[in-house]
Amino acid sequence: MQICRSIAAIRDAVAGFRAEGQSIGLVTTMGALHAGHMSLIDAARRDHGRVVATIFVNPTQFGDPKDLETYPRTEEADLAMLEAAGCDAVLIPRADEIYPEGDETIVETRDLAVRLHGAVRPGHFRGVATVVTKLFNITRPDAAYFGEKDYQQLQVIRRMARDLHMNIDIVGVPTMREADGLAMSSRNVRLGPEDRAAAVVLNRALDRAERMAIERASPAQIEAAIRACLADEPRATLTGLDLARPGDLAPLSQSADIPLSEPVAIMISAQFGEVLLIDQREIAP
Ligand code: PAF
Repeated sequence: MQICRSIAAIRDAVAGFRAEGQSIGLVTTMGALHAGHMSLIDAARRDHGRVVATIFVNPTQFGDPKDLETYPRTEEADLAMLEAAGCDAVLIPRADEIYPEGDETIVETRDLAVRLHGAVRPGHFRGVATVVTKLFNITRPDAAYFGEKDYQQLQVIRRMARDLHMNIDIVGVPTMREADGLAMSSRNVRLGPEDRAAAVVLNRALDRAERMAIERASPAQIEAAIRACLADEPRATLTGLDLARPGDLAPLSQSADIPLSEPVAIMISAQFGEVLLIDQREIAP
C-alpha cells in the first residue's frame, strides 16, 4: 500500500493505477477506522481494480472545537487495517494543503445542508461537501463509498455529485453493527462503559419503529414511541429525531396521523455524556 502524505504523491499513485488500466474506488475517512470502514473498502475492492482511501480529520465540519480536538486519532492502527483489507494507496494530507492560505471556495447543497441534522449542526454539511469535493478532485475516482449510517451526509454527497456533474458513482453501504446492535462509529471508543451500554437504545428505538411501521402505526405514533424509548434511558439525551422521505429528505407527503403509507427514513441523534451519536434506518410500511 502506498502511503501518500501530499497531493502530488497521491496524484502520482492514481496516475500509475490509471496507466495500468485500472478503475478506482475511493473511501474517504477521518481515521479511527473500524469494521464499518472496512466494509466500505471491501465494497470498493469488489467493484474496482484499485482502492484509494483518505484519512483526514476535516476541521471545517466540526462546530465545536473540543469535538475536533478529542476526535480519536489512531493512524498506525488505521494503516495496518487498510493494508490488511487490500487498500492500494492512502492519502493522509496536511490541513494546510487541503485548505491553502487564502482558500475561500465552499461547496454547499442549499436545502439539504440546513435541514434535519444540519439545523442543529450549522455549517457541518458545508464542511463535508467542501472537503469531499476537494478529495474527489485530488483522487478523481470512478466511484466513492459512504456508510448509510450517516444518511443525510450520503444524500448531500449524492446530490452534490449529481448537481455538479462530477461523474462519480456514489455508493451507499449498509451500516455495520456491533453484536448488541450499536451502529459502528469512530466515536464509540470515547463512550465510557455505562454510556456504551446505554447507546444500544438507538438501535432498540429503530427496531421498535420498524415493528410499528409493519403494524401500520402512524408517523406521529412512531415518533412518539421513539421519544418514549429514548426517555426511558436516563443516560441518553435526544438531540434530533426526523422522519423524512428517503433520498431527498423532504417532509413526508402523508398526514402524520394516518397509518404510514410511504417509505420513511428515520434519523436519530442523541448525546451520551460528551459523545454525540447518530443512527438511522429506512423503513417501508
Ligand atoms: O464520514 C466521514 O468520515 C466524513 O464526514 C468524511 C466523508 C470523510 C468527510 O470528512
